[in-house]
Amino acid sequence: MAKMKVEAKADAAKKTKDGVVAVPLFAKEKGKTPKLEGVQKTMDDASEGRIKAAYDDGAFTGSKGETHVVRLRDVRFLLVGLGERKKVDLEALRQAGAAATKRTRKLEAKRYVSLLHAVELEAKEGETAPDVSERAEAVAFGCVLGAYKFDRFFSKEKKEKDEKDETEVEAVVFSTTGAETKAVAKGADRGRIIAEATALCRDFANSPPNVATPRWMADQARRVAREGGLRIKVLGKPEITRHKMGGLLGVSQGSTEPPRLVLMEYKPRKVSAKPWKKIAFVGKGITFDSGGISIKPSPSMDEMKFDKCGGCAVVAAMQAIAALKPEVHVIGVAAFSENLPSGKAYKPGDILRMASGKTVEVLNTDAEGRLILGDALWYVQREKPDVIIDFATLTGAIDIALGKPYSGLMGSDDELIDRLYEIGKRSGEKLWRMPLGDEYQEMIKGTYADIKNIGGRGGGALTAGQFLRNFIEEDKVKWAHLDIAATAWGDGDNPYTPKGATGVGVRTMVSFLDSLLDGR
Ligand code: BES
Ligand code: ZN
Ligand code: ZN
Repeated sequence: MAKMKVEAKADAAKKTKDGVVAVPLFAKEKGKTPKLEGVQKTMDDASEGRIKAAYDDGAFTGSKGETHVVRLRDVRFLLVGLGERKKVDLEALRQAGAAATKRTRKLEAKRYVSLLHAVELEAKEGETAPDVSERAEAVAFGCVLGAYKFDRFFSKEKKEKDEKDETEVEAVVFSTTGAETKAVAKGADRGRIIAEATALCRDFANSPPNVATPRWMADQARRVAREGGLRIKVLGKPEITRHKMGGLLGVSQGSTEPPRLVLMEYKPRKVSAKPWKKIAFVGKGITFDSGGISIKPSPSMDEMKFDKCGGCAVVAAMQAIAALKPEVHVIGVAAFSENLPSGKAYKPGDILRMASGKTVEVLNTDAEGRLILGDALWYVQREKPDVIIDFATLTGAIDIALGKPYSGLMGSDDELIDRLYEIGKRSGEKLWRMPLGDEYQEMIKGTYADIKNIGGRGGGALTAGQFLRNFIEEDKVKWAHLDIAATAWGDGDNPYTPKGATGVGVRTMVSFLDSLLDGR
């Protein structure tokens, strides 16, 4: 995917003589053409009434994701449906941006002017209405990711043929009223940066497990760090052994590929974040989860290349953070390993001594994520963060509980959990709280060691979350755990996400940091 330019220019739409102009429009209500206001009215006038006519004659209804083109001389007005006026939110704007890019590509235009940020949104209950900068951010995010594809592994011939058949959209210009240009440019820039990091996360995660090994992931992290001017430390097997990380060592010992533990650091000159100054993100990076000796069934086992999505999200988010330069200190840690069966593999019944000193009875080698994370969480606390948030494709159980719309949110601190829940409502990465507690601790009490790595039949996502909690010093740090097993990849059910990795987590991390800073 070539990089897309995103710019803001005063009155770009009015000045367009021969291009594509994307216009945001609401759905018909009870079969009636909605009143065209603001930029909608201006553009209807500019098109000499063709927008209203498209509604009136039924060619366009304004439903979410719908696009329709009307032409006046050399200008093509690209009508983009936002859906029912009252329901239009930031998510509708992301999807509208993606729809506009896709349709522009079909029109074989290399650039377009967009007014999609220019409609005001209603405030949702208990929330403030998004301002123009936040709207521009959402649109830009969608515009950029509307062009996302993962074609790195097709042959040269196939790629060349596809490139001939399809135009790439190179730029989108946000048309502003003069007074808003700065705010729109700032939001659009943020949206582009976050979208590029999301695309990077998808590229990592979609990469096949014979390429994307722990060593390869560490090399990618090194490149991100170099390009962004971040400090990075990569622990190989000798250092991991020295730190006595029995969880990460146990899980990786069945594979010929050695594990890697990556630590990246973004340190601004000035820290103004409140109420927390130093934030650590931690990701599960199992580059392939066969289940190990407790091997998984063959159907869909290929999807377990996505078991590295948490680690990929952390590395990719660091790229966005390096570009956005928030005034908050950030540590990113990702633990990478394969989980394979072999004559050297760890076994059910094995007892592992974790870096923290706690011992774990392995009753199922497929519950490996919590073992590598236990060590990664312990390790990151040496950096003394105020907050730790981990991202992990941890359990199939979270998919049974919540399905695709929400990631599971667990943790030990109500203030942190509440903040993340609120962020989820705006970022488009929705989160739903699930419980932890002594009852779940009881379910993972060990017979021959301190704890065991699986609970009983029920509450699989919660015994997994509770397991992680055993490695957190709760009097020193606030911690939240996001189970992204159901949300990290999908069939491509929205215009800015094709089949494959979604890049979930990147927006949550960036929005969380943003929430610690005054004003947007
Ligand atoms: N990586 C899986 C979780 C997973 C399953 C993610 C399906 C996405 C889709 C994890 O390592 C795992 O296998 N967990 C087991 C735990 C069980 C053995 C207690 C699971 O969820 O079945
Ligand atoms: Zn597993
Ligand atoms: Zn796993």
